[in-house]
Parts: sequence; structure tokens; C-alpha cells
Amino acid sequence: MALAALLVSSGSLLALPKALGYFIDTLAATDRQASLQSAFFLLLTVIGLYAAAVALRMYLLSWLGERLVADVRRRVFRHLLRLPLAFFDTHPTGDLLSRLTSDAALLETLVGIVLPIGLRSLIQLVGALFLMAWLDWRLTAVFVAVVPLLLVIAVFFGRQVRRTAVAAREEEARLVMRIESSLNALSTVKSFAAESSEAGQFDRNSEISFVSAERLMRAKSLLVFVLFTLSLSLAATMLYAGGLLVLERQTSWSVVAQFVMYAAFAAFGCAGLSEIFGEIRKTAGAAERLLAILQQPPESSRQLQPLPVRPGPGAVRFAQVNFAYPGRPQQSVLEDFSLELRPGETLALVGPSGSGKTTILRLLLRLYDPQAGAIFLDGVDLRDMDPQELRRQIAVVSQEPFIFSGTARDNIRYGAAAATEGQIVEAARRAQADEFISRLPTGYDTPLGDKGQQLSTGQRQRLAIARALLRQTRLLILDEATSALDSENEMLLRQTFAQQRKNRTLLIVAHRLATVQTADRVVVLDHGRIQGEGPHARLLETCPRYARLIALEFEPPS
Ligand SMILES: Nc1ncnc2c1ncn2[C@@H]1O[C@H](COP(=O)(O)OP(=O)(O)OP(=O)(O)O)[C@@H](O)[C@H]1O
Ligand SMILES: [Mg+2]
Repeated sequence: MALAALLVSSGSLLALPKALGYFIDTLAATDRQASLQSAFFLLLTVIGLYAAAVALRMYLLSWLGERLVADVRRRVFRHLLRLPLAFFDTHPTGDLLSRLTSDAALLETLVGIVLPIGLRSLIQLVGALFLMAWLDWRLTAVFVAVVPLLLVIAVFFGRQVRRTAVAAREEEARLVMRIESSLNALSTVKSFAAESSEAGQFDRNSEISFVSAERLMRAKSLLVFVLFTLSLSLAATMLYAGGLLVLERQTSWSVVAQFVMYAAFAAFGCAGLSEIFGEIRKTAGAAERLLAILQQPPESSRQLQPLPVRPGPGAVRFAQVNFAYPGRPQQSVLEDFSLELRPGETLALVGPSGSGKTTILRLLLRLYDPQAGAIFLDGVDLRDMDPQELRRQIAVVSQEPFIFSGTARDNIRYGAAAATEGQIVEAARRAQADEFISRLPTGYDTPLGDKGQQLSTGQRQRLAIARALLRQTRLLILDEATSALDSENEMLLRQTFAQQRKNRTLLIVAHRLATVQTADRVVVLDHGRIQGEGPHARLLETCPRYARLIALEFEPPS
């Protein structure tokens, strides 16, 4: 249908000069009003047909283009969500953002611009040339001889414009990133009184962007100058040649007028085609960048048919695991790391900052795969399970919990949409979050702002704990989940976790003595290696590393 509209619009455009010629001829040949009128109506009909076809074509092709963009975006985004975290360690977010926005939008030009302009230009060029030759072959010969030369010149200047346009776009993207990073860090910027240095950096970027934009404007103006001069001189030349023929009584003014219009169409056709080649190259580049994402293998099970995850008691085993982050492959984080968690056990992981505690938890969630060794949940290698199924078995409160911009309720039932109101409130109550949530302006329906900005850090932590408690999983992981809480709230939460111990395996990263003391077993980690393990009391005697850690953390310096 879009194609039909395209053909009609191109065809009626070609008929326009014909109708005009008929109009002039009628005017010259007859003085009868009736025929003048019919010529006038013919002209109006062609105009109406053309306008309607153009509008219809524009709508249909834009629809097709937008549909394409939306579908591609949806597919790429879905795929992106399923890629392993390792991919994002090595691909900056800004780059992915621009692929999903500008590159995807460029695909619309394929349908919305390349297809219609290409086809129209081709029809225009061929049709106009044919009609020109039919009108007067001598003028056509002049035209065909001159046009290629003009085309070469125009293409040369067009290239110039395209090159400067790419540079200008890149500078603009950099400017946007600058704004984003400054605004994101605004409280830090202000705290360090660094406004003028941020502004200075922005000025420099903005100036660079201005210069490249100016370069683009200059190239564009030059192109316009060249195009106007060339095309109008061509038209003048055609008029002159036509005039000579008229003077020699070889042809009529009506023919010359039609001819000049067709010549203009043919020239536009040529220009359109040369434009299209540039567009095709640009779109191909964008499509390639999107395909590169789609070709990345998503997270999956090693098995073609993932082993079914059966509810088990929650036993965990790390077996000789070696791990380095993909973004920093030469720095080993865990070396020959082995650890066993018995079902129902509560294990505390302690160690200095950067020793690899969070990394161990990430491996258990299979956010990363170890380079050597294996990890088992109830005897099944994590790599043989479906990653989503695995993560449904584990509830986690991460060290820096992410609060989404929705309401308190949305955040608690995140990932558990089926939870009832009663379950949500119960989870909040156990997480010591019910009280402060109830005091928010609209309780559980209160929006919490971007990243939960409108909560205190300790409130954010309790919300994240409620979110984890809502999921009845065999394994509960807490990564310094109460680090920002006061002693009283912390004590209350410890009681909650003590209740959880009955039917769950608990893996806790904590530094507070009270938490560590009550754990069944403590593992001391340093530089990705286990320095000692056992119950708190025994470790204090047998592991000097642990004794020193405890002494420094918990006892006031004398
Ligand atoms: N995404 C990452 N890419 C590369 N290296 C990382 C990444 N995340 C962490 N690391 C490095 O891995 C090491 C262990 O980090 P990890 O977060 O496991 O430490 P941690 O014991 O949890 O420390 P903390 O007590 O400060 O939370 C650190 O040296 C850190 O720099
Ligand atoms: Mg950590």
C-alpha cells in the first residue's frame, strides 16, 4: 500500500508539467472558456492526486519505520538484559545507550527515507529523461552532457558536509555526557566547592562543540551555494538553448517550459540518488552496531536442557575456584578458593575491604562464572541450571541495595509481583521497615524518588531487607545489610535473622561482633584466600589474623 502511494505520488508529479503544458497550449490555441476551464480542472486534479499520495506515503512509510525501530529496540533491549554482567564490565553504558537510541532511530531512515527517496528519485530521473527526450531530443542531449559534471562537483561537496556532520554529532554526544555526569554528582560537586571547575570543563567542551557545529554550517552553506549556482545556471542554459530553438521556430515556449521543469525533476532525482548512498552507508553502520549486541551469547545453562531445580535443603559448595573479573583479567580476586555451607547453617564471612567477600556472593548468584573450579547448589553445578531458576532460589541484600523510583510497595515486591498485601506488610515489619514506611506521607504508596533518594541510607537498607525476606528461598545472602543501622534496629533485625536460621542457609558478610559471634561458623578472608575458619571463640585462639581483625574493629583503641 505504501508502495502504491509512492508510485502514485511519483507518477502524478511527473504528470504535473504535462498538465501545465496542456494548460499553456490550451491558452494559446483557443479562446474558448470551456476548454480553459477543463484544462484548469485537469491541473487541479493532478495537484490534488499528488498531494494526497504524498501525505499517504509519508504516513504509511513513517508508520513502517517507527514500527521497525520499536521492534528492533525491544529485541535488542531484551537481549541486553539477558547478557552476562561480564559484558557490561567491558562495554560502557554510554555506548550501549547511544546504540539503543540513535542507532536504532537511524533504522527508520531505511524505510522512511532510503526506500521512498531512492525509489522516487529513480522514477523521477528515468521518467523525466524519457519525457524530455520525447519533448525534444536536442535539448535532452545538452542536458545529459552537462549533468554528470555537475553531479561530480555536488557529490564532492556533499561528502565534505557528511564528514563534518559526523564530527559535530560526536562532540554533541560528549557534551550530553558531561552534563549527565556533573548533574549526577551534584552533591559531591557542591561539597567540594568544585562548581567553577565543572563549569570550566563544560565551557571547554561546549566551545569545541560550537566550533565543530560552525564547521558543519560552513560546509553546508558552501554546498547550498554550489547547488544553487549549478542548478540555476543549468536551468538558465536550458532556457537559453530552448529560446534559440523557439526563435528558429523549431519548438514552442510550452515545450521549453515543460522541458525545464522535467530537467529540474531529473536533477533532483540525481541528487536524491547520490544522497541515498550516503544514508545507506550510515544505516549499515548502525545496523552493524546493533547486530553486534544481538550476536553476544546470553546467559544460559551449559546444558541444552537445563537440569530442573528441585527445592533442596540449601547446601553450597565452592570447589577450587579461581576468579578474576573480565574487565581486569590479570588481577586474580579468588585463588583456589574452597568452601562448604551445610544446609541450615549460618556462615559469616569477614575480611578486610577488597578481600573478595562481595565477589564470592556474586559468584554464588552466578553473576560471573569462575575461570577454574566449580560451584554447586545442593549438588548441582550452577552452570547446569537455568540462571533465572537458580536466582529464584536465593534472596540477597546487596551491599549497596538499589531502590527503584516507584513506591515503597513496588520496591518490596520487586521480583515477586504475586505477593499479597499481607505478605508485603509482614516482610516490612520483620525488616523493621513497617514503622517508617507507615509514617511516609502516603504510606506504602509513597514514591521514593530517583534511586530512593528520599530515604535515608538505613531506611534504604531496611527496604532492601524486606524485599529479600518476602522471597521464601532456601538461601539468604546478606552483604553488610545492616551496616548503616543504629544498634537498636540492628539488634531487632538480628532477631529476625535468627528466626530465619531455622529453615534457611544464611551467608552473611558482617563486621559487627554480635553478628559474627552468633554465626555457626566464621570464615576469614584475605586477598581471596581463606586465612582461617571455625566458630568465633575457637578462631580467636587459633587464627591470629582473625584476632587482630576483631581487636581492631570492635575494641576501642587504648
Ligand atoms: N566489576 C569489577 N571489575 C574489576 N574488578 C573488580 C570489580 N568489582 C570488584 N573488583 C575488585 O575485586 C576485588 C574484591 O572486591 P570485593 O567487592 O569482592 O571486595 P569486598 O571484600 O566485598 O570489599 P568491601 O568490604 O569493601 O565491600 C577488589 O580488589 C576490587 O577492586
Ligand atoms: Mg563488598
